[in-house]
Amino acid sequence: MNRTRRHHDWLERIAEAGLSGDRQKVEVVILSAIRSLKKSDPTLSDSLGAVYASYAVSGQALRSHKTPPPPADQEEGMALVRIPNYMSSEPPILPETAQAAVALFIEERQKAEVLLRAGYAPPCSLLVTGAPGTGKTMLARWLASELELPLVVQDLATSISSLLGKTGLNLRRTLDYARSHSCLLLLDEFDAIAKRRDDSSELGELKRIVNVLLKELEDWPHHSILMAATNHPELLDPAIERRFQVLLRLPLPDQAGLCEILKIKLGGFSSEIPEFVYNACSSVLVGASGSDVERIANSVARRHLTRSELLIDALVSETSNWKTSPNSDGTKALLRALRESNSKLTVRELGRLVGKAPSTIQYHLQKD
Ligand SMILES: Nc1ncnc2c1ncn2[C@@H]1O[C@H](COP(=O)(O)OP(=O)(O)OP(=O)(O)O)[C@@H](O)[C@H]1O
Ligand SMILES: [Mg+2]
Repeated sequence: MNRTRRHHDWLERIAEAGLSGDRQKVEVVILSAIRSLKKSDPTLSDSLGAVYASYAVSGQALRSHKTPPPPADQEEGMALVRIPNYMSSEPPILPETAQAAVALFIEERQKAEVLLRAGYAPPCSLLVTGAPGTGKTMLARWLASELELPLVVQDLATSISSLLGKTGLNLRRTLDYARSHSCLLLLDEFDAIAKRRDDSSELGELKRIVNVLLKELEDWPHHSILMAATNHPELLDPAIERRFQVLLRLPLPDQAGLCEILKIKLGGFSSEIPEFVYNACSSVLVGASGSDVERIANSVARRHLTRSELLIDALVSETSNWKTSPNSDGTKALLRALRESNSKLTVRELGRLVGKAPSTIQYHLQKD
């Protein structure tokens, strides 16, 4: 095909898409044109890429609109979304693979313009799954601060229960708000809405909402990020899950992760506790979430500050109390772990650490 003919074809396709009034169609055609013309007409491909990138990344189309106020439920005047105000944010401690996926997402967003200029769309939707307290909300804060986007949060579980009957309309308002200016929209407790469509107990309205979301995920604008978080990925409609560009599973931290989180949460106090105690405590805490560890670290700091307890004693005590049940004796597990981390510890020292008489320690150790 000669050059003029090729230009003619692309012009025709872009005009057709434009006249159909379907913005997503226009974008898809332009992105393919940028890629396809790269070889035969790099100058045209570059200038089309530049126009498109400046439009899509900066949300140029939005400049003519005034930034709307955050959406509120019309009848009740209740805010539908929270826009938390945070000054700085710290990254969640994640295993290597999850960390690499997060870093890649950030990099691709930061280089969105490079991608768009070459005819590739940057990722703009992200589904994060993980047990309670594994850092999903924390990750949203971190991404928003790294990407310098305001964070807009809608908790779907609350909006469904408190606004039943109007959820669809209210979600629509939130989505329109997030589309109308660059932000990171976090739809928290996403499973509350994204139930399987074949669930017979489901209300008609939920079905409609799922359809709204399917459509939104297909043509979400490049300048905003749609992030959904859930503890129950198994409840999600597979059709919804498939439409997210990035899927991220946050596991419970392993022992090294627990150790790191413990030290971070203890902040300035962390250096006053020897390494072997961290090793022992983190091995006992396997199964705990980042949020559990934060709670333990905060208690340790409070006990130290209010009762002048030694940090090491407070940490050992909080760790041995963690999830102590008839079937799991926290003290015994911790004793074993402390012994393994530091074989030089005497029975007396162990007793002092866990707040038990040396005879009790002897008894436990002998039983092993
Ligand atoms: N991976 C982690 N690294 C560091 N801190 C963590 C991590 N996970 C959780 N935390 C701590 O626990 C707090 C609560 O975590 P967060 O609210 O992000 O969990 P979540 O996964 O959103 O839980 P939920 O499912 O209950 O909403 C965080 O603010 C943070 O201090
Ligand atoms: Mg959360």
